Amino acid sequence: MTKYLIDVRFSSSVERTPRVLEVAEGFGLGLTAKEFVVFDNLELEVNQGDVVFVTGQSGSGKSVVLRELSRQMTGQGLVIADLNKIDLPEKPVIEIVGKTITQAADLLSKAGISDAWIYIRKPSELSDGQRYRLKLAMLMDMPADVWIADEFGAVLDRVTAKCVAFNVQKVARAMGKTLIVATTHTDLKNELGPSLTITKRFRQRVELEIAP
Ligand SMILES: Nc1ncnc2c1ncn2[C@@H]1O[C@H](COP(=O)(O)OP(=O)(O)OP(=O)(O)O)[C@@H](O)[C@H]1O
Ligand SMILES: [Mg+2]
Repeated sequence: MTKYLIDVRFSSSVERTPRVLEVAEGFGLGLTAKEFVVFDNLELEVNQGDVVFVTGQSGSGKSVVLRELSRQMTGQGLVIADLNKIDLPEKPVIEIVGKTITQAADLLSKAGISDAWIYIRKPSELSDGQRYRLKLAMLMDMPADVWIADEFGAVLDRVTAKCVAFNVQKVARAMGKTLIVATTHTDLKNELGPSLTITKRFRQRVELEIAP
């Protein structure tokens, strides 16, 4: 049982440029620094192998909680693989993942790429959504304890996003990996079947739903 305490506050101080001062005066904004609380001592329990789904409005704190969990988990000695930190090597897609061609095709198909034409292309020749799915295949190929994906499936059409979400959680669970994803789209919840759902609202408001 591993508990994490998420406490994130920012100062609302601003740089007083001439335009900032004009805007402040025009709109009657006070510029004295105030504390702005995003997470107020939120206690989360995340165990190895859990699927955590973070959702909520844009600007509510999804990326912040992902960063904080990642930082605290790294501090505990867990190895984190972060989808947004993956760089794509410029070589044919089929060469990028897996130890064998069979493994490569299997990983790519789980990430939603099952077209042989794409296998022989290089990342620079792919669409954003295809590159995104390739990164997911690379994520599933990494020797990490925790897979983290911010803006999970955001660039994909919703049918593909759902298929990919279902596959990725299945692989994560089969391999005992912890999967932590964030997206403002709420339509992936059924496919992910999360152990923990964090719905972040503005200010420090948050709702937790723990699977029975
Ligand atoms: N380094 C920082 N300094 C000050 N405020 C910050 C900092 N990082 C984030 N914030 C603020 O914290 C809040 C939450 O930001 P966060 O990036 O987690 O939102 P989000 O839910 O991921 O939104 P989106 O869906 O747009 O990605 C925002 O109001 C943002 O302005
Ligand atoms: Mg974000």
